[in-house]
Amino acid sequence: MQVVVCKDACEGAEIVTREILNALSRKPGLVLGLATGSTPIGVYERLVTAHREDGVDFSSVQTFNLDEYCELAAGHPQSYRTFMQKHLFSGINIAGENIHFPPNEGPALAEKCLQHEEEISQAGGIDIQLLGIGSNGHIGFNEPTSSLASRTRIKTLTEKTLRDNSRFYEDPAQQPQVASTLGIGTILDARSILLQAYGEKKAEAVKASVEGPISSFWPGSALQMHADTTFILDEDSAAQLEMIDYFRRSRAEGIRMREENTI
Ligand code: GLP
Repeated sequence: MQVVVCKDACEGAEIVTREILNALSRKPGLVLGLATGSTPIGVYERLVTAHREDGVDFSSVQTFNLDEYCELAAGHPQSYRTFMQKHLFSGINIAGENIHFPPNEGPALAEKCLQHEEEISQAGGIDIQLLGIGSNGHIGFNEPTSSLASRTRIKTLTEKTLRDNSRFYEDPAQQPQVASTLGIGTILDARSILLQAYGEKKAEAVKASVEGPISSFWPGSALQMHADTTFILDEDSAAQLEMIDYFRRSRAEGIRMREENTI
């Protein structure tokens, strides 16, 4: 696991964007796992700029979003499809058929979720999985106590997550209580994982995920089992890390060794 402590969220977004663009230049048919929430917006803005100003081509890229609310129509302002359309898809030349979301409507939703896993495999698996993290440590909508081996399925949202996201709903009765989400096992299958977390509200979840024991109670801690995971943090979200000085030093050493062409 690598931990990069940035000076702010802008530097973090730059790092993640660079990783994606480098991977895209090596593999035009890149398979991206995408996250919603306020955290990845800076990356999406930069990808749109890269397309508009530098002509970066997304026509062969495939995307798999992490999660989607159930019982919210696709065009609902709070649906994750609407979010992605607004912040990324409308600004790049991605083909509509290359955009995938976990199924969120019945009948036979459980079966459709399993078929979704099949679609990810048929695309060749996820190359880069972008993640944010909930203040309770959830990744995607894998809430605390989610099986660390879970696959795409329906999850009931915790009170904490409902509270954190209630600001988006004027009428509380409209707020969905359940969502479909890639499982923790599905996320761990991605070749590389980039988790961004910014702000003080994420500090406890970051501490538990990076330095805590692996536990389904803090789903982000499952990433300790992945061979190519990077946490991209700002000073506030990294504030509770005991090893913060080590992470800073290790980043500096990495930069030096790359400059000297050692690694
Ligand atoms: C939601 C999403 C997660 C996201 C989290 C954090 O609940 N399902 O994928 O990581 O919120 O959101 P934010 O980035 O707005 O803090």
